[in-house]
Amino acid sequence: METIRSTRALQARADKLRQQGRRIGLVPTMGALHEGHLSLVDAARARADFVVVSIYVNPTQFNGAADLEAYPRTVEADLAACEAHGVDAVFLPSDEDLYPEGAETWVESTEISKPLEGASRPGHFRGVATVVSKLFLAAKPHVACFGEKDYQQLAVLKRMTRDLGFDIDVVGVPTVREADGLALSSRNVRLTPEARTEAVVVSRALDAAASAVAAGEFRVEALQHLVQTELDKSVLGELDYAEFRCAESLAPVTDVLDRPTLLALAVQFPSKDGDPVRLIDNRVLETSPS
Ligand code: PAF
Repeated sequence: METIRSTRALQARADKLRQQGRRIGLVPTMGALHEGHLSLVDAARARADFVVVSIYVNPTQFNGAADLEAYPRTVEADLAACEAHGVDAVFLPSDEDLYPEGAETWVESTEISKPLEGASRPGHFRGVATVVSKLFLAAKPHVACFGEKDYQQLAVLKRMTRDLGFDIDVVGVPTVREADGLALSSRNVRLTPEARTEAVVVSRALDAAASAVAAGEFRVEALQHLVQTELDKSVLGELDYAEFRCAESLAPVTDVLDRPTLLALAVQFPSKDGDPVRLIDNRVLETSPS
């Protein structure tokens, strides 16, 4: 497995691969790799013959120094996991490489970034879109894989890719879950044991809404009530948002579900380090039989 540490070196490698007719798959990550990331690697492998994993904790997408500081960093274990999983190259850029002194150019999608995570974390998607643009320009991939757990991130990055004309296939990969349904996340390790047990209410709330929709309940108010009932089974969890949004545009769905609708949840739980952990999860509720 190759380790590449600068944009210039990765660009040169990508140029060579492209000259040889190889297909490059990129999996952008912030490290602390888990099975969810490895499923992204598998998805990239199925679509490309040279898989690059980038590991970079991007400071511009964090809202506070404490969250950035608390983000788990496990580079040695990440490299071992990539090697064991047959990754061809790992890109480990430095802050100076991605954000050279005086960097002032940003990529921002103005509307799709506004609700949900965008409302709770101002500037977050500007940081994500900017760093992913830089990673796209560095790795020159044919395909890039992202988790559906971060549904809005995927929507923002698909929109950015289309709007800026990146010739890259942006692929969403289904969420990987623990046996009890909790979506895998690098943040889960920070949960207190009690919070970890209660965090299952998040996926259960999604399940409850999906079952009700499958049984013909399309009224947003009734579904909202079901979601709240499940979330209330946790005493530690603090709801940030539970929102119904058009799965395509992320516009609010306020009355009845009349098209595929995203149910997006964000709930805060206590952490071992004292700063709350925000868990997000989502489900697309289909309004007609698939
Ligand atoms: O999903 C993540 O881990 C990050 O937001 C990403 C896409 C690697 C950009 O830093």
